[in-house]
Amino acid sequence: MKNIKYLSAAFLLFALIMGNSGCSSSSGNNPGHEYMPDMAHSIAYEANHLQYYRPNTWESEENLRDFYVKPMLPVKGTIPRGYTGMSLAKDPSDAMEKSDFMAGTPMNGHVPYYYDDTEEERTRAMAEITENPYPITQKGLDKGKDLYEIYCGICHGDKGEGDGYIVRDDGGKYPAQPANLVSDEFIGASEGRFYHAVMHGKNVMGGYADKLSYEERWEVIHYIRSLQAKKTGTAYDPIPDPDAAFKSKFSDLLSATSHGGGHESGHGDAHGGDHGEVSGAVNPNVMRLENVFFATGSSQLKAVSRRELNVFAEVLADSGTNVEISGHTDNVGDAASNMSLSQDRAVAVRNYLISRGINASQITAKGYGDSRPVASNSTDEGRQQNRRTEFEILRH
Ligand code: HEC
Repeated sequence: MKNIKYLSAAFLLFALIMGNSGCSSSSGNNPGHEYMPDMAHSIAYEANHLQYYRPNTWESEENLRDFYVKPMLPVKGTIPRGYTGMSLAKDPSDAMEKSDFMAGTPMNGHVPYYYDDTEEERTRAMAEITENPYPITQKGLDKGKDLYEIYCGICHGDKGEGDGYIVRDDGGKYPAQPANLVSDEFIGASEGRFYHAVMHGKNVMGGYADKLSYEERWEVIHYIRSLQAKKTGTAYDPIPDPDAAFKSKFSDLLSATSHGGGHESGHGDAHGGDHGEVSGAVNPNVMRLENVFFATGSSQLKAVSRRELNVFAEVLADSGTNVEISGHTDNVGDAASNMSLSQDRAVAVRNYLISRGINASQITAKGYGDSRPVASNSTDEGRQQNRRTEFEILRH
């Protein structure tokens, strides 16, 4: 009994304190106060959720002032946290899909879309987006097919004719007619028409921006183009996989029966002296790294070079071959600085390969400056050919 009395007295006291001093209105210079305001109304700002934050609970709705906090949509074109990173990533080539790399998109493929969901913007997208940024690859077409059949086929039909099973009479309930994507109208339509439809949908069709990544959207579009090609009996062929091409060139080189005199009598000694003369002799042990690029006048490897170098590192590791990396310049500028630039560049390539796990003893690096041109230095095209990185298989 006693306990209950104490308890009720304590509760009364608490209620009194709360009643008298738990909250007070703001007025004049007094900002007012609340006891544990966070418990009364959450100050969490839900992203994209429109809800007024009320700093007190006794004000009537009409008196709520318009500076009360209101969550807002991100600024147009905002890229979500963690969605940039080509230059920030330690080694983007590890995290990146190879095709992303080719298209030069950020590592996870998040690319802002600047066309609104209106007819004018649809027209603008159709006029401005005229190219699929990804090359046609078999892998991409296969993935595009899977995605198309998951997301689009139920309405647009497996062949794109607008007769997916939810539309067809045999069990179909869908009320609207999906577009016939293999009709002349869509065969003639620009890439933007498809991309815009994927991003925003059209009328009853909802958008798929949140279901498909940037690359996946373009893979679906490639697949739709291949369905159109099938319809018209034209070709929509994948380009050969550049990695596979590199690997087969490398293995051809390795297995070449002609040892071409080997390293000792390679092109170096044959024409090392005749500075500036193009030699007709081709060293069968030499292969050019076609996609290795440097910043102008520097030995800084451009990120885009990593793709080929990674494949190169793979084949080097598999074959255990010893190679010499050689750097070459055109004959513009001072021969001595060309020599040192080409040396630095060859070393940069070597260091990169070592960073990819290749044994340092497997690779040497040497700069040849402008002493080994493969084309005439008197034309732009020739000079461009001459600025190059090669490797030579060192046979024993
Ligand atoms: C639930 C059914 C449905 C699904 C799933 C669907 N669509 Fe559609 N789609 C439609 C309908 C209906 C239309 C016709 C809209 C109109 O013109 O009013 C349409 C129209 C289109 C158009 C033509 C837009 C234009 O500019 O006229 C394209 C392109 C398109 N869809 C692509 C896709 C792709 C790609 C997918 C899969 C990622 C997809 N659709 C998934 C129902 C669907």
